[in-house]
Amino acid sequence: MPDATITKRKDFLSVLDFDATDLERCLRLSARLKADRALGRHASTADALGGRHVAMLFDKPSLRTRTTFEIAIRELGGHLVALQPDVALGRREPVADVARNLERWVDAVVIRTFSQSLLQEFATAATRLHVVNALTDQEHPCQAIADFLTLQERFGQLRGRTMAYVGDGNNVATSLAHAAAMLGVHVHVASPEPYQLPHAVVQQATNAARHGARLRLFSEAADAVAGADAVYTDTWTSMGKEDEAETRRQAFAAYQVNEELMSLAKPGALFMHCLPAHRGEEVTADVFESQVSVVFDQAENRLHGQKALLLMLLAPAASL
Ligand code: CP
Ligand code: NVA
Repeated sequence: MPDATITKRKDFLSVLDFDATDLERCLRLSARLKADRALGRHASTADALGGRHVAMLFDKPSLRTRTTFEIAIRELGGHLVALQPDVALGRREPVADVARNLERWVDAVVIRTFSQSLLQEFATAATRLHVVNALTDQEHPCQAIADFLTLQERFGQLRGRTMAYVGDGNNVATSLAHAAAMLGVHVHVASPEPYQLPHAVVQQATNAARHGARLRLFSEAADAVAGADAVYTDTWTSMGKEDEAETRRQAFAAYQVNEELMSLAKPGALFMHCLPAHRGEEVTADVFESQVSVVFDQAENRLHGQKALLLMLLAPAASL
């Protein structure tokens, strides 16, 4: 049954910009868009953006996010404006000035940058512009949509499932924790002490929790993984932190996802990773290549999830 009413959202800087109804609708819409992709130009959403312009600005490298947003914009009948990093967000001119220029030309901007507060400043300055977070140091909300779409495909009902996240309490972990809480999924996070999920994120997830979802922090990977339906990990060294790589390799050595760790999860538990992955560090090659690994489903679902997101922000009527 389509929703009778829709809430118009301006930005998607964080999973928390959505409420649980939005997020569930986004997952349903993603699944529909995935099925409809085979219809190509005959899909009902093929011109939903009606030639509107969507700009993209990446201050950090990207394969998946950039490619899937480009395809999503095109397949929904929008026009892409690929801004170059020489825009030098926040350095060449004030962030608010960049935002107030762009809103005179385009309808939305997809931004990958370092600071979440800079993104917030950008979005606040441009009241007519839809702003999407394509990853900051703090959050990666588009990834979480694809991740829960992947789990929904495998499990059907998400509520009551348990995901273990082993490794750095970083941007990916934060957005997973936000989304899981809203969707009624329990999350067990295991990280070495200095790299635990920030307290503020634990608080946000607790406040957003529905259907009894619980977020629990562990120091031992084995304890977090026990009984989990899925085991998720991410790089130990995120983009921008390359100087810390050696220290982090040592700190995270006991947090590798390997066959022994996977054997402590539920039989058949899925292995998840946002990619790019580093075999021999956060995950072994055998787990990465195993039957339970859904990493390329996650990557594929970036496309469908972001199409749904663009429709919800830019063409809410087409998103019903
Ligand atoms: N998972 C993800 O965001 O990949 P990219 O960094 O390649 O965009
Ligand atoms: N945590 C990683 C995610 C990459 C998609 C990073 O920020 O580099």
